[in-house]
Amino acid sequence: MKIEHVDVPLDNNSYTINIGDDIIDSKYLFPLLKKGDRVVLVTNNVVSDMWKNTIVHYLLQYRIIIDEFILPDGEKYKNLHSVESLLSFLLKKKHDRNSILISLGGGVIGDLTGFVASVYQRGIRFLQIPTTLLAQVDASVGGKTGVNHVLGKNMIGSFWQPIGVIIDTIFLSTLSTRQLVSGFAEVIKYAISFDYEFFVWLEKNLVKLSVDSKKMLYCIKKCCQLKSKIVNLDEREKKSRMLLNFGHTYGHAIETHFRYSTWSHGDAIAVGMIIASKTAEIIGLLKSTDTKRILKLIYMAGLPIMPPKNMYAQEYLKYMERDKKNISGGITLILPTSIGKVEIFNNIKKDVIVSSIQSFL
Ligand code: GLY
Repeated sequence: MKIEHVDVPLDNNSYTINIGDDIIDSKYLFPLLKKGDRVVLVTNNVVSDMWKNTIVHYLLQYRIIIDEFILPDGEKYKNLHSVESLLSFLLKKKHDRNSILISLGGGVIGDLTGFVASVYQRGIRFLQIPTTLLAQVDASVGGKTGVNHVLGKNMIGSFWQPIGVIIDTIFLSTLSTRQLVSGFAEVIKYAISFDYEFFVWLEKNLVKLSVDSKKMLYCIKKCCQLKSKIVNLDEREKKSRMLLNFGHTYGHAIETHFRYSTWSHGDAIAVGMIIASKTAEIIGLLKSTDTKRILKLIYMAGLPIMPPKNMYAQEYLKYMERDKKNISGGITLILPTSIGKVEIFNNIKKDVIVSSIQSFL
């Protein structure tokens, strides 16, 4: 069994991402947990039905004491109400500062568990076991934790690094096609943002990924390496980490507008990347041939390429004006200047944003 490692070197709290196929029961994976530790396994009902017993069985072998906290599945449960329920659970079960939370699930479970870990008794340890492609290539790495507010996505949160990340591609075998495809949006984001060669590799290999585990492992490792580099440079998003948000400003507006229900994160980000590429083209930053290539790869992945018909440009602006990247009242966007390179642009004119959106309607 081959386990690949990607380090996330930070000033404090460095950790390792372990990546492999069917590695979850490996005794090498839990050096961070020890006999007698108390853990809370946080998951959702869908993941729980499929994987909880495997994980619990393994933890029990190591004499680890486990409580389980199971939420309903869905982005709409990534809110303060769920945070409060988990906090109450920890208090009722008398968990202390030595307890460890394990998140077993996608980005919703990971972000929420991390946030609760960051505030429970002023901070306890947590371990990420991401089960969706989207969480494996992006959300589980880098310590961004938090929940949504009806007025904005991820508006309540903290930076709190996990003690480790365990990425097992075995989890991907039980994802629906839609969930897998959703993860491709973040994969494509990494290629457009930072790595032209990777983009070309995806143009050749994307459709084979779901049936070729070696290629899938390469792809996940590549995204984790790219993310680790950025997080190492700028853990708290003072500047360069903002680059990880390509497509997210438009995408978050869509997700928030539809109340985190009809548009998945991946689908919204896919469309967000297409509109952002159009914005870059309108400003004269990106060649129209590059916009077309980006659109084609997103289409090939099975992701949507058209913005929602029933959402008007003014409605995007309402959410975009509250984005965390904005400074001095202007809208900040992450835009590609070529395939493989994105930059931060402040004070993007509203009429450019409106034209970008309207060019698709
Ligand atoms: N998902 C973007 C970040 O972690 O900064």
